[in-house]
Amino acid sequence: MDKKLVDEAKTLQKELTGHSHRYHVLDDPIISDARYDRMLQRLIEIETQYPQLSNAQSPTKRVGGAVLDSFDQAAHTLPMLSLDNAFNDLDITEFHNRIVKKLNREDILYTIEPKLDGVAVELRYEKGILVQATTRGDGRTGEVITQNVRTIRTVPLTLKSVSDPNRKNPDLLEVRGEVIIQRSDFESLNKTRLEQDENLFANPRNAAAGSLRQLDSKITASRPLTIFVYGVGAVEGIEFRTQAQMLDLLKDFGFVVNEHIQRQKKVQDIPEIYQAFEKMRDTLPYEIDGMVIKVDDIPLQKELGQKIKSPRWAIAYKFAAIEETTVIKDIVIQVGRTGTLTPVAILEPVNIGGVMVSRATLHNEDEIKRKDIRINDTVMVVRSGDVIPKVVKVVTSVRTGEERLFSMPHTCPVCDSRIHRERLGRSYINRCGNISCQAQRKERLRHFVSKKAFDIDGLGKKIVDQLVDEGLIHTFDDIFTLDVEKLINLDRMAQKSATNLINAITASKNISLRRFLYALGIVHTGEHAAGVISKAFSSLDAIAAASRDELEQIHGIGVETASAVYDFFNHPDHTTLLQALFDAGVTISSEPVTESPVLDNYFAEKRIVLTGTLLQLPRSKAKKQLELLGARVTSSVSTKTDLVIAGEKAGSKLKKAQEKGVDVMDEASFVSLLNKITGQ
Ligand code: IVH
Repeated sequence: MDKKLVDEAKTLQKELTGHSHRYHVLDDPIISDARYDRMLQRLIEIETQYPQLSNAQSPTKRVGGAVLDSFDQAAHTLPMLSLDNAFNDLDITEFHNRIVKKLNREDILYTIEPKLDGVAVELRYEKGILVQATTRGDGRTGEVITQNVRTIRTVPLTLKSVSDPNRKNPDLLEVRGEVIIQRSDFESLNKTRLEQDENLFANPRNAAAGSLRQLDSKITASRPLTIFVYGVGAVEGIEFRTQAQMLDLLKDFGFVVNEHIQRQKKVQDIPEIYQAFEKMRDTLPYEIDGMVIKVDDIPLQKELGQKIKSPRWAIAYKFAAIEETTVIKDIVIQVGRTGTLTPVAILEPVNIGGVMVSRATLHNEDEIKRKDIRINDTVMVVRSGDVIPKVVKVVTSVRTGEERLFSMPHTCPVCDSRIHRERLGRSYINRCGNISCQAQRKERLRHFVSKKAFDIDGLGKKIVDQLVDEGLIHTFDDIFTLDVEKLINLDRMAQKSATNLINAITASKNISLRRFLYALGIVHTGEHAAGVISKAFSSLDAIAAASRDELEQIHGIGVETASAVYDFFNHPDHTTLLQALFDAGVTISSEPVTESPVLDNYFAEKRIVLTGTLLQLPRSKAKKQLELLGARVTSSVSTKTDLVIAGEKAGSKLKKAQEKGVDVMDEASFVSLLNKITGQ
């Protein structure tokens, strides 16, 4: 065979593996997605023609393989233990005291990790190559899910030590971690399932577990799974001295290690860290249900040993549950912006993980039937992050016979118009077809002025409702004809706030195409679709003039969205509406659609690396703030890096920055400068 081809395949395999790692693990890609796709396409071409050039580690093998009849079982070399739970600071003190007593020393350091709420797996690498992946099972024996785990982009198929002659490649390395699905990915997965009339997953953990247990790995490949690793099983040819050092080495091998892990802390630090984690919990993109406290020193871990099911050197400090049971007192109907009727459960108020919850969405009539939800039922409700609380299931065992079936009304509860049952994907929704319905009008206007649309500060729900009820606004353009005189008659509206509101309205008149399109509230056209469509066309006129076919051709736009956009722009009422908006002074900026970073500040245009633990704000927030100020936040330090912001216990990146002479700033200076710039 042509040697050139052999070399090309090898180079592509190596480069694609590297780029995939940069993209999925380091979050720092250096080539475009399109270029990556072209390279991958070329490799697939070569490997299809010469299968002997392919191997199990090739990046072409992340797409799933043959369908299995069942999963094999495999014994774990070392049992996968579970953890004892602690629920308060006293439990932690007792845990620490037991350790102190057993080891007869007091200077114990702990590594504290978020307890990820997913599915535990073990990955076995022999001479650096992934040979087997198993579930935890009963702790001694698990199911072999290698094919499925291979499709997870953040699982290295070969350890980085294989290709790096400077690194020692262990003969055996069993890595343990948690497979999870991020909240936003979970929401979109369920949305698609709802549209396709499939059962919804109750929470991200169930979705991850269900996705991992597919006999057809192509299905697993289509699910947005990812993994964080936190420990090891059997190892040969490598030694770990501390938990912190082990995590660093796992990272070097190419795994994702959670960025919020707190290294080498004293027992006295634990309560404060617990509070910080609890506070951070809702802002994380994935679910955590507590933190895991581990003795950092590995020889000491060994000395402490284990009980039957759990180690003596680690404990889970759990958060208050985000699932609670309560009673449905009533079911009411909420009318959405496009007239969709959503049944909402009115609950006996219940504290779920620190937040009082008194309403939960029931999605639609079919979901109520599927879950057999009745008024007076005791139900399990979950609240996760900023997601609307929802009813997961009915506790049927406590039914008393007092439960009442709910039936969807035949007319709109607000305007009394007839309700239509409409198909959406494979499921059905109920819709009020009267576009002048007050409820719809209020929702449409609220959407129009919301943050991601016209972003009119001070025009919240209550004021919109009042303005509609008072007959001061009917359609979008009416907002721009408001004046101080009209506003001042509203409840609790003083001269100053009225003036401020009018100023905010005026300031919002110039808007990007993407925001404008989103603000219109076209069915199936959310923020993302609006962005894609405005990118594909240069102006609103071009969008309005597009044919159904042209809209459908846009990559990432489905038939339903294309047809909704087409219908919107080809409805005479809407032509009038758009004209009225322009007559009222609205202009669409021709600028490229960006969030217009403020470019004259210290951080603007700088390449910045965040490292170590930030105590005053979550790292994700720091990153976002910096990006809003026009900085580019990257994950590895290079000569191109302008600034390293170093939190507590900053390690190798800080060292690298110092070696390369990159500017370093500590957290206190960072926060005070940030506050100065943002005026807080
Ligand atoms: S360590 C012997 N670390 O919690 C140590 N577990 O109840 C056992 N988990 O099965 C595991 N995040 O699924 C560890 N940072 C973390 C974890 C974690 C989540 C899960 C894991 C395990 C269960 C134990």
